[in-house]
Amino acid sequence: MSWKRTHTCGELRASHVGQTVTLNGWVDARRDHGGIYFVDLRDRYGLTQIVLGKEHKDAGRIGPEFVLSVTGEVAARDAGNVNEKRETGTIELVVKELRVLAESPTPPIEVTDDLEAAVETRLRYRFLDLRRTPLQRNLAHRSRFVNAMRRAFERREFLEIETPILTKATPEGARDYLVPSRVHAGKFYALPQSPQIFKQILMVSGYDRYFQVARCFRDEDLRADRQPEFTQLDMEMAFVEEEDVFELWEGVLTDTFRDSMEIEVETPFPRMKFSEAMARFGSDKPDVRFGLELVAADAWAGESDFQVFKKVVESGGRVMGLVLPREPAPGTTAELSRKEVEKLADVVSEYGAKGLAWWKASREGGSGPLSRFCEGERAVALMEVMGAGEGDLCLFVADRESVVQRALGELRLRLAKRFELVPTDGRSFSFLWVTDYPMFEKDEATGRWSSSHHPFTAPVDWDLPGAEEDPGSVVSRAYDLVMNGWELGSGSVRIHRGDVQQRIFRILGLSPEEQESKFGFLLEALAHGAPPHGGLGLGLDRLVALTLGLDNIRDVVSFPKTASAADLMCNAPSTVAREQLDEVHIRLTGEAVE
Ligand code: AMO
Ligand code: AMP
Repeated sequence: MSWKRTHTCGELRASHVGQTVTLNGWVDARRDHGGIYFVDLRDRYGLTQIVLGKEHKDAGRIGPEFVLSVTGEVAARDAGNVNEKRETGTIELVVKELRVLAESPTPPIEVTDDLEAAVETRLRYRFLDLRRTPLQRNLAHRSRFVNAMRRAFERREFLEIETPILTKATPEGARDYLVPSRVHAGKFYALPQSPQIFKQILMVSGYDRYFQVARCFRDEDLRADRQPEFTQLDMEMAFVEEEDVFELWEGVLTDTFRDSMEIEVETPFPRMKFSEAMARFGSDKPDVRFGLELVAADAWAGESDFQVFKKVVESGGRVMGLVLPREPAPGTTAELSRKEVEKLADVVSEYGAKGLAWWKASREGGSGPLSRFCEGERAVALMEVMGAGEGDLCLFVADRESVVQRALGELRLRLAKRFELVPTDGRSFSFLWVTDYPMFEKDEATGRWSSSHHPFTAPVDWDLPGAEEDPGSVVSRAYDLVMNGWELGSGSVRIHRGDVQQRIFRILGLSPEEQESKFGFLLEALAHGAPPHGGLGLGLDRLVALTLGLDNIRDVVSFPKTASAADLMCNAPSTVAREQLDEVHIRLTGEAVE
């Protein structure tokens, strides 16, 4: 009889009792009952208990992670031995023939659902880590999800077109990964940070609906939601404006969530301008599922005797606050000690705020550092401004607007987490379009202007009035897709006019020579009949992680890298032979020489 499986380890049920079957899989657990062995055999479909008697001479030596082929008869378990938690729990396989297909030493990490090994160890032995059920479930979900999304695009007449990996820098604000050329001494390819320029050129070439499951490469500081290589669902459309792209994505995401998760997404997604997002939530990717919104207290502060507030208002800064209600959610009380409240100042100081003033609101004057300035009418007025009730905690930051908003935005998130205001059921998906971003942002250190999104984003007004004098005032046609406080995707209506593109490059400080050498091909394409177009790149790793309720994208990537961009399993990056370097005309210097 063949060693090949007739069924998977997740397949057998009571209806199979009496049948002779063959299973293949890994040894999960083994229990020795005086010469009779009960073994759980595992594959990615599930676990089946198999029973090995004394007659199998190999039974005594098999250990965890051995690969077996077992043939035998499916038997019903006694009522007392039924395992309700397992789909195969009503049966077991009484083995007639045992074949050991492969052996394994004691594994360095346990292949178990609730593994507590260090991340480094997990990544070092990723081949074992990936054998664990949670990761197998994650990658299977990812596959289903991405396929559903592909189908959604295909149904809408989009063409899937691949763009080059060995290419020229496509700027998205990170450093490039470079690849030296052997044939062209001293020259380098850059790996794409995104397919941005190619997809725009596809629009010029008439492929009016493009999408791609695109690998992107960025040499940047890594965090839980960032890998040096990651995947975008990248798309572009010709002859469209913002609302067309929004509607398209609302349809695609509705289909994808329905097909892969049986979840109904609510559409249309709300739209919110960047300025409103910052003013209300202190973030351009607000989690709008809970309150604790920011409140402007400038007017009250300007009339107050508190010198810090008064001065900030007089110098054109902002005084804003938020209210932590005494009962942030039904049945919970937010009792913070004085010490705990003062500790919150550490949160805002990370964002450059110089202090966190607080007031426990009461008509009688309340308590906290601000209570001295809250006598009589002033207390009532502040409660009104803040929308605070008796005993609610009001927290304030006074500074430049950007500092105040970001600091309070972060404080809002921390408080929401602490008082469990953020839904964690893994099935609450709250999408939001954030629009009308500033076109440029200033690097405070160097004083130079850079694109808030990327330099191909169209301005709201093609004539760009006042752009050179005050780049900060220009509003762009960029938008972000935000979900549950994460930036999922980013896109824009693009510049399809060469003259406007050149003007933007100029404002960004690119000389005509630099424009020509870096983007000459794009300018040339734009000069040859470019249709109005727009699109979006969506971070697939992030979306897949969020749909699984995970907060690190590592768990939905098969072979992720560490925070220092290393692959601990295959040991990349690594040194290469001298001859290989010679071939690509590279000589190592300084610290790089071994
Ligand atoms: P952007 O640079 O905003 O836009 O990227 C789009 C989305 O990609 C995801 N993302 C990442 N995911 C994991 N690891 C990273 N290092 C990483 N960097 C970005 C985010 C982000 O929202 N060309 C434009 C899109 C366009 O304009 O059409 C672009 O790449 O979810
Ligand atoms: P002081 O009078 O300097 O002791 O400050 C009184 C309170 O105001 C303290 O709780 C400080 O944290 C707070 N504070 C100081 N500077 C600021 C600021 N720029 N914004 C908000 N609160 C501040």
